[in-house]
This record gives sequence, structure tokens and C-alpha cells, in this order.
Amino acid sequence: MSTTTTISLQGMVYEKYAALYGATPLLVWSPGRVNLIGEHTDYNRGLVLPAAIDKHIIVAIGKRADSAIQLYALDQGESFQANLGALGRSPLLWPDYIMGVVQQLQRQDHHLGGFNLVFGGDIPQGAGLSSSAALECATAFALNELFHLGLSRLDIALSAQKAENEFVGVKCGLMDQFASVFGQEQRLIKLDCADFSYEYIPFNNPDLCIVLFDTQVKHSLASSAYNERREQCERGVALIQRHHPHVKSLRDATIRQLDEHVKPADATVYNRCHYVVSEIKRLQDGCDDLKKDDFATFGKRMFETHDGLQHLYEVSCHELDILVDLVRNNDAVLGARMMGGGFGGCTINLVKVDQVQRVVDTVTAAYHEKTGRDTQAYIAHISAGTDVILNED
Ligand code: GLA
Repeated sequence: MSTTTTISLQGMVYEKYAALYGATPLLVWSPGRVNLIGEHTDYNRGLVLPAAIDKHIIVAIGKRADSAIQLYALDQGESFQANLGALGRSPLLWPDYIMGVVQQLQRQDHHLGGFNLVFGGDIPQGAGLSSSAALECATAFALNELFHLGLSRLDIALSAQKAENEFVGVKCGLMDQFASVFGQEQRLIKLDCADFSYEYIPFNNPDLCIVLFDTQVKHSLASSAYNERREQCERGVALIQRHHPHVKSLRDATIRQLDEHVKPADATVYNRCHYVVSEIKRLQDGCDDLKKDDFATFGKRMFETHDGLQHLYEVSCHELDILVDLVRNNDAVLGARMMGGGFGGCTINLVKVDQVQRVVDTVTAAYHEKTGRDTQAYIAHISAGTDVILNED
């Protein structure tokens, strides 16, 4: 389902493509995501609980007769040219997400031709809502349609993730890309990152809604710290493995093993691993809460996740902590925590529908008072995943 904004955005992307290339494009959309619980667990072969939201990247694409790649970013008003035989990185950054996908598809021996692509979107950038994953997924989905590559949705999500890992250089897990491609209306996705099995969990309590508060900051250490956390988790696994060779990831590890083999060796690595092992358990318990409609207990677990991310995993920041602290004792907010990679972006809040405006007003005023910054509040509606929205072929 599309919102009015998305429909007008579609029109703008379409019109720009038609004006630049004098042809009718194939149009694809790919959404951003939220994650209810299960943070920094995906690359540890754990579980995550994301959902696609009603904010999108829209890609317009069409074939060319030569091997050139012509790109245009509507929001930035910037263009970029490359060639199938020369996929250089760009100082503009956004072309890398598209080039990374092209490189992945080429590495998988898919035959692509030259293409023109225009994109635009309404996913706030740098807010931790995965606008870059949405661009990667929209590109992979669109190329799959255009050149009849025969990729499954899982192939598309995995190719998009690899583009981010290998071309962009962020060693992210699969959560963002999977949520973008597999999203469904009013359903969360319980994804098992060990084997990519998944289950949809209904999320349609009419009394509650998901509110995101954007810190409006993105601290620069985000991607280096992300990769460092990943290495620390791997170090923890290696310490356990010497004694328990069957432990291949933190998914297989227990708190007891961490106490015995990691704690004496490295206190920081211990804290990181302790958070991850606890968070995987917390997600499983949280899914049981949701199945019983026990949103109050689920909300408490969200606060616990934040505490772990703040004190043990250390990926939060002052602004995120303030936004969570501001709602901790508010009866209208069942749960809140920082969301995504960390060091900025949004908090996710489970809020009583009839009190949303009051919560937004209170938090907005208090955040400004404490930080001198403005927060931006978004209500996230859980929506459908990547799809073709126009194909006149
Ligand atoms: C980023 C990454 C995801 C995931 C989250 C943290 O969004 O892209 O793969 O690791 O951080 O849960």
C-alpha cells in the first residue's frame, strides 16, 4: 500500500527518468526498516525481529544499447557515469550502493547490459532506517526484473548484503536487506540468521503504535566501531572454541562458557559477548510475549536491550540515551531503545496510540532543552517489501 507521499515520489522519479532518457522505465520500490528487538545479533548467527516500513526508495530503470551505466539521484540532484567493465568507487558515496550490487551480480556470472537508473526516496538518511539497504535491494530487484536473472528474494537480499560488505566495506549482517525484501503489512519477521529460516509474527494491536525519535546525529565512528564489534564477537568465539570446538558463533555459546573462557581473558570482549548471548535469549522470550499479546513485558525487554547496548556493547551515544531516559517512566510508552547500528539515528518506542501526540510533544521539548537539538518524530507503519510498481514491458 502506498501513502500519498510515496505516490507523488513515484511520479517524480518517473518524470525525471522520462525527461532524462525519453523512455518509460520499470519502477521498483524498496522500503526502510525498523527492528523491534534483536540488535547486533544478525552477524552472530542469531535472531532478529525487523519489519519493513512505509518509507521507500524508488528506482526507475531501463536498458541501454551500450555497456554504460548512467545514474541520477533525484534528492541530491547528482549524476554518475560508469561502465559495466569499470565500476569505480565514487566520492559521492551513493553510487557505491548501486555499483556494489552490479559487481555482486557480475561475480555471480549474471549477464547484465548497460542501463539508466534514476532514484529518489523518503527514508530519512543517516537515521538508521536503512536507506542504503533499500537502495541496494531496489537496485538488485530492478536488475533482476530488467535482465531476467531468475534470482529469488533471498538471492536478492544476500546480493545486496554482499554489496555492502565487499564494495562499501561495512561488514553488516543480513537484517536490513532481508527486512526490505521480505516485509509484509502488519507483520514482523522473525529471522534466524543461522539458516535464513523465518516466520511472520502479526503486529497489529490497534492500541499501540511505533514511534521513532531521530536524534539527528550520526557520529563518525559508526562504521569502524561496527566492524570492531564484529571482530570482538569473533574473538570471544575463538576463546570458547579452544575448549568447545562445536561453538561456531555466539548463537551456540552460553553465559557459563563466557564466564569460564572469555571473562578471564578479556573484560571488554566478555561484555560484548554477554550482551549478544543475552539479547538472543531476550528476543526469543520477546516473541513469546508477542504471541500472548503481552506488550507490557515485551516493552520492558526493549529497555533491557537498550541498557545492554549502552553499557555492555557500547554502541549508544549521549543523544540516544537521553531519548530513552525521557520516556522510561512515561506510562504511555511501553518500551524504548536505540535501534540499528548505533552512534546516532533513531530510538524505537512502543507508544499508546491515544497518547502519541502528548508523548511526541513532551519528548520534543525536553530533547531540545537537554541537547539544544531538534528531534524528528516518525510514526512507522509496518508495510510490504520490495516490489515492482510499474512495468509496461
Ligand atoms: C546495522 C546493520 C545490520 C545490523 C544492525 C544492528 O543496521 O546493517 O546488519 O547488524 O546494524 O543490529
